[in-house]
Amino acid sequence: MRNPAIVLNLKTYPEILGKRGWELAKRFAAVADDTGASIVLVPPTSDLAHIAKLVHLPVFSQHVDAVEPGPTTGWIPPEALLEAGAAGTLINHSERKVAWEEMAKSIPRCQKLGLEVIACADDLVEAETLAKLSPEYIAIEPPELIGGDVSVTTAKPEVITKAVDRIRAANPNVNVLCGAGVRARKDVAKALELGTVGVLLSSGVVRAKDPEKALRDLVKGLR
Ligand code: G3P
Repeated sequence: MRNPAIVLNLKTYPEILGKRGWELAKRFAAVADDTGASIVLVPPTSDLAHIAKLVHLPVFSQHVDAVEPGPTTGWIPPEALLEAGAAGTLINHSERKVAWEEMAKSIPRCQKLGLEVIACADDLVEAETLAKLSPEYIAIEPPELIGGDVSVTTAKPEVITKAVDRIRAANPNVNVLCGAGVRARKDVAKALELGTVGVLLSSGVVRAKDPEKALRDLVKGLR
């Protein structure tokens, strides 16, 4: 994943399930082609393999399990993500929390396979603890701001700067992203000003009247 970046979590919004998501993924790839911006797509697991074949952008999973491949029903081992064409995965998103012991197993397993990990943290304490597991990225996302109209860069800039400082102090190899309520180029620019290498976002693009146009505006904040 190239920094600075916009990581677009498609979640499981109806607007992006199946064919609708495939079409949107192609339009998002055109934005990356036209602008040179680093855009990462995070589709639902059901669409990951198809989208990974459809576009040349890095595609990340929304979740990964620490199970070994084998007699495990309904789980997602890192090996399955690699075979599906994923370049990495989120883990511990506030909407899909994972026990620390699980992450201590799954993060190194992902990295051994060459999958990059974006570990999500709700707050500063969690961010600092996660830094000890050496994911490539930690995304600080106050849950109460997710899906809202106020960007975390406006509502809680101090949380972002503190997260950057504390994560860097705990593990200088970890890159920091931020997310929640990011929906305009000024939010992206501010996130970089506050010391992150990009943003993790969803509804500002997925639920926009014109998602491609919304993304084209956001990538201008990466400059
Ligand atoms: O994973 C990013 C997501 O939780 C942020 O959501 O809708 O506030 O951009 P949103």
